[in-house]
Amino acid sequence: MRTIGVLTSGGDAPGMNAAIRSVVRTGIENDMNVIGIKDGYEGLIGGDVYEMNLRSVSNIIQRGGTILRSARSDEFKTQRGQRKAAEMCRRLGIDGVIVIGGDGSFKGARELSALGIQCVGIPGTIDNDIACSDETIGFDTAMNTVMQMVDRVRDTTESHSRCSVIEVMGRSAGYIALYAGLAVGATAILIPELEFNFKIDVIERMRRTIENGKQHFVIIVAEGIGDSNSMAKQIEDKTGVETRTTILGHVQRGGSPTVRDRVLASQMGNYAVRLMKSSKKSCIIAAQCGQIIDLEIEQALALEKSIDIETYRLAHEISI
Ligand code: ADP
Ligand code: F6P
Repeated sequence: MRTIGVLTSGGDAPGMNAAIRSVVRTGIENDMNVIGIKDGYEGLIGGDVYEMNLRSVSNIIQRGGTILRSARSDEFKTQRGQRKAAEMCRRLGIDGVIVIGGDGSFKGARELSALGIQCVGIPGTIDNDIACSDETIGFDTAMNTVMQMVDRVRDTTESHSRCSVIEVMGRSAGYIALYAGLAVGATAILIPELEFNFKIDVIERMRRTIENGKQHFVIIVAEGIGDSNSMAKQIEDKTGVETRTTILGHVQRGGSPTVRDRVLASQMGNYAVRLMKSSKKSCIIAAQCGQIIDLEIEQALALEKSIDIETYRLAHEISI
């Protein structure tokens, strides 16, 4: 009987629980022991684990966060920490580990698999910055949360004829900003992947819309761009429009996952366990054109994700 471990690592994301549920139920249904590892790689190093059963994952599919908790482990970044983690797997009889997390977590999985522990990565991050996968678990929920929050900010922005600069998460990626920005009808969207000219793309754009009657403005800024407060000040100084900044922050990481995230998480968790059953290779699971597939970790990490310029162009063309 194979024993597999499951952990969540890096920033948590809505849908991680649905993925854990899928892993646990698929594993047990396929005659495996499933061990829950708490606090990501930190818990693996310390052996903070428990055996999971079918009921351990009852009533969690709808819950945000992760019942296994998540962590960023500095110790695991060291070779010593990685060796301790691999040794702990051997001591606990864990044959393979399913790692639900982002790019950093997958780099960790690569190191662990080099030490002889099979690892399968499931993309779980609100940032959607995993190159091999069209979508990551948590992205859809985060975009919907941003959309709802911005709609609220817009109400008061309009009442006061103001401009709101709204900063959204994404680390160095602009996917949340781009798609939520399109969905809320932002006047301008600034993302790290595409160069912009603040004067032309924000100030001139606002002036043009003022000329055709617009009185309130929403500017969506990805956090990877820089200081949104100073951008707000520049806007106020150059246009005369009273401007406020809203940094949405961690509200974007919480909440009940959407249908799309629950389905994706269930599919990926199931695929990951089946792969562990049928082969001993380490890999990353991905969604491509509606299909769940797997790639070698090294191959997956070497890919670079590109932003959809058409969507960026569209958002700006219709927000004047
Ligand atoms: P995410 O997985 O969401 O990208 P992080 O970048 O914070 O989040 O990575 C999560 C954890 O993965 C880190 O705290 C660390 O323990 C591990 N990790 C990140 N990068 C590496 C690396 N280059 N080598 C080994 N482990 C890493
Ligand atoms: O990777 C997810 C994410 O929420 C990023 O969008 C953000 O930059 C980062 O994590 C915030 O991390 P922390 O919760 O450690 O402040």
